[in-house]
Amino acid sequence: MSEHRTERGNWNSKLGFVLAAAGSAVGLGNIWGFPTQVAENGGASFILIYLICCLIVGLPVMIAEFAIGRNTRRNPVGAFKKLGNGWFPPLIGLWGVMCGVMILSFYLVVAGWTFGFVFGEIFYFTGLTGASEWVADLGNGFKNAIFTILFMIATIAIITGGVSNGIERATKTMMPILIAVLIIMIVYVFTLRGSMDGLRLYLLPDFSVVNTSLVFAALGQAFFSLSLGMGALLTYGSYLKKNQNIVESATYVTLADVGIAFLAGLLIIPAMFVAQYSGITIMDEDGRLFASTTLVFDVLPNLFKSMGGFFGLLFGASFFVLLSMAALTSTISLLEVPVSYLIDEHQVSRKKASIGIGGLVMLFAVIISFNINLIDVLATIFNNVGLPLGGLMLCTFLAWFWKSEKAMDEIRHGFEDMDNTLFPKIWPVFVTYICPLLIALVLITTLYNLIR
Ligand code: TRP
Repeated sequence: MSEHRTERGNWNSKLGFVLAAAGSAVGLGNIWGFPTQVAENGGASFILIYLICCLIVGLPVMIAEFAIGRNTRRNPVGAFKKLGNGWFPPLIGLWGVMCGVMILSFYLVVAGWTFGFVFGEIFYFTGLTGASEWVADLGNGFKNAIFTILFMIATIAIITGGVSNGIERATKTMMPILIAVLIIMIVYVFTLRGSMDGLRLYLLPDFSVVNTSLVFAALGQAFFSLSLGMGALLTYGSYLKKNQNIVESATYVTLADVGIAFLAGLLIIPAMFVAQYSGITIMDEDGRLFASTTLVFDVLPNLFKSMGGFFGLLFGASFFVLLSMAALTSTISLLEVPVSYLIDEHQVSRKKASIGIGGLVMLFAVIISFNINLIDVLATIFNNVGLPLGGLMLCTFLAWFWKSEKAMDEIRHGFEDMDNTLFPKIWPVFVTYICPLLIALVLITTLYNLIR
């Protein structure tokens, strides 16, 4: 077997890798999904449980993905094929590639909405009300398709650029802007009337709402938000140099993801209460905060409108630029998985692979643009079942077939004093028992709820 090292890139810097992986993690799941879940699940107690889930399940699995990726220097299919025998291991990778293609297909439509709203805000505040209403119509398939295609073209363009010149450069530019915009917006919202009511709800935990389904919701959200379970971070890990500390990098990525989700909630929940002060409805009849599309595409745009003039425009456009950037650094990681698969396993050039598989995904995304009720169905299958199943297979494979000792030999590169730390005692217990068990519980509960 020839090694296709020439086609496979490398990260240029340690920070570049951390930002790229954090960019994959930080996405609509953080800025939209997380505040939505907090709003639905009783505020601060959800945050705490989410943090615990990220640390005890997310982080160990992320370390596992990085280790498998760097050890094999392959896409998910090639990686499992290299480490295990028989027909089953490559199937784990193939499952990941398929989840990537399918998640990307509907994620793009939502990303297209957020991108469209950048223009929607500009249209509204420059008096083009008709055009802004056109953009705001989420059910308009033709309009959805246009923005989805534009978003995909941007994604393909970055992926065609390769690992360091495409992904690393793009995320290195976008991530700092994203954090800066987020913080500026939070500071501004805090000066507005009503924000403190939101802050109170967000930060004061109500433990009476905690039950197992909340814990499982938090765990599922953690998996999606950290980009785990389908080999996206495994693929990013395959471009890692041996001198980078995997454990340290994974910790940074996890903390960045949780931190940005936390900040997004700090913006959105108070903003909702500011909106309430302006007479905008933010809760349903049962007193539950509006979530998901209503929250992002109704409540918040109404808030921007009520700010009026300059601030409304600035705020509205910035918010949707923020969402679009977060989504773009995630769509590139989703596309990189099937692209790296074609490059490694089928000797296709990066450019051909990006355009070919990108075109196919675009086709799916256009179909979904016209049938947006498919989004929920696909999200249930691939986010809620596909990712945990992938994560479960990955942990099981690592622990029982590849063995955690071998994984630790890989992790020791770049982490020379590993053996003097608690890591070799703790991590194997997590990937071998605790993570698979918890993931399996989530999976079983999800499946049970689906067929019930
Ligand atoms: N983590 C991203 C988000 O929070 C979505 C995402 C990107 C993802 N790449 C992934 C999810 C790979 C699962 C697997 O929006």
